[in-house]
This record gives sequence, structure tokens and C-alpha cells, in this order.
Amino acid sequence: MHPMLNTAVKAARRAGSIINRASQDLDRLTIRHKSANDFVTEVDQAAEQAIIEILLDAYPKHAILAEESGPRGDSEYQWIIDPLDGTTNFLHGFPQYAVSIALLHKGVLTHAVVYDPAMNDLYTATRGAGAFLNDRRIRVSKRAQLKEALIGTGFPFRDFTHVDAYLGMFKDMIQKTSGVRRPGSAALDLAYVAAGRLDGFWEIGLSPWDIAGGSLLVQEAGGLVADFEGNEKFLDSGNIVAGNPKIFAQVLQTIAPHLTPALKTPA
Ligand code: IPD
Ligand code: CA
Ligand code: CA
Repeated sequence: MHPMLNTAVKAARRAGSIINRASQDLDRLTIRHKSANDFVTEVDQAAEQAIIEILLDAYPKHAILAEESGPRGDSEYQWIIDPLDGTTNFLHGFPQYAVSIALLHKGVLTHAVVYDPAMNDLYTATRGAGAFLNDRRIRVSKRAQLKEALIGTGFPFRDFTHVDAYLGMFKDMIQKTSGVRRPGSAALDLAYVAAGRLDGFWEIGLSPWDIAGGSLLVQEAGGLVADFEGNEKFLDSGNIVAGNPKIFAQVLQTIAPHLTPALKTPA
């Protein structure tokens, strides 16, 4: 394993143990509202601090973009961190959440870790070297027909600007697929696409820390990731489609009629 990925794994596991400990006594958590339906707990913050400490201890000159503490430093290496993706699930004891850490080198995703602490499942990828779940190689599913596919998504829940467009996409998707799921952690949804548990995924308006790690997992597992028009800039727009190559194309086709100008790639 590349030393940088190894450091990210160590950081993700440390964050996972903070999360697991706290999950045993959820009543004791102090919850703060960042905005409507947007929660943060001391666990998100403690996990993030632990991750940053481990990364900067190994690579003091690297830059960071972390959900709770924002950007710091300036370097061609930037770590993108979501210390706890799926906070709402975590608060309810619904065991579907993850730690996500990715490294961008000169703007290119190079290493990724998504760690599911409730299952102790570690997903890792390095560009050009494949994707792994607990050291076993993973690949996207082989399903070719949308009607046989299980598709993941995320509902709008804090910003309802695109809710009508989303519901149009959703209405078509539930009729054209074998099922649609909303598990509640975008990082883990993408890891599931990489592992072939979901055949595809789409969501509107995510942040880079939700998707940086998971999208490299999908690509290294043989899948495709793009924005709603099939372009590469999904980290910037946060509008994302992922899937095995066949299902990816059909998800893009299904959402296309519902795209408003704001959901299209800026020229
Ligand atoms: C959220 C999860 C969720 C997605 C939201 C994200 P958070 O992250 O990934 O699945 O639908 O848009 O913000 O806030 O729990 O880290
Ligand atoms: Ca998140
Ligand atoms: Ca988070």
C-alpha cells in the first residue's frame, strides 16, 4: 500500500474508533444545528481533528479541505475530508455512515479511503491500482439493463431549490429500475457502487468531501462518474451520477429530461 494511502487508512480508523465509542451512548451527545436539517456533533469535530492531526503529522506541508474546519494550507497535495458522512443516520443509531478521506494531487484524485466503522469495512483505492474492500479487490456490477438495476440516491433535505427537478428524476427512476434506495451517506453509496451492491447512483448538490473518496473508488472499480451532462467537473458542481458503464449511461439518459439550466454544467 502506498505510504500516503496507509496514513489515510490510519486516520480513518482512528476517526472510526471515536465514532464507534460515541455510538454507544448517543444520548450524551451535544448536537448543534448548522442550519435547518444540518447537524454537527462533537463527534464530527473530534473525528476531524484526529484525522487532520495524523495526516499533518506525516505530511506537514500538505493542504486540507475538511467539512467542519474548512480549508487550510496551500500545496499541490490537498486532503479532502468528511469525518462523518451520514450524521443524521449516526444521531438516530441507524448504522449507515462513514469516514471519507481523499487526496487530490495537482487537482487529480489519487488516493481514497471510505471507512464504515459500524461494519468495520474499509474501502480503499489508489489511481491506477484498483479498488479494495478489506484487502479484496472490488469491481462494479455487471448488470446491463436499468430495469434490473438497484440505484442509490440522496433526497434533497436542506436546500429545496431543485426539489421539483429531483422529483421528476425520481418518478422516472422508480418506474424504470428494479429499486431505488436512499441509504443516507453519499460516500458509502459510492463505495457500494464500487463494490457492485448498487448498480448506479445520482444526487444533486453534494459537497466535495461527500464524494471525493467514493468517486475514486467507483472509477478504480471499473465504473464511471460524472456530472449530470457526463462531464468530469462533478467535484465542483456536486451534481453526480455514478455507476457501472452500462447503467451509468442509462441513469444519465433518465435524468436528462429533468435538467434545468442550473443543473447543467456551466459553459
Ligand atoms: C450528507 C450525506 C447524505 C447526503 C447529504 C450529505 P453529512 O452528509 O452524504 O447522504 O444526502 O447531501 O450532506 O452532512 O451527513 O456529512
Ligand atoms: Ca457529508
Ligand atoms: Ca459530515
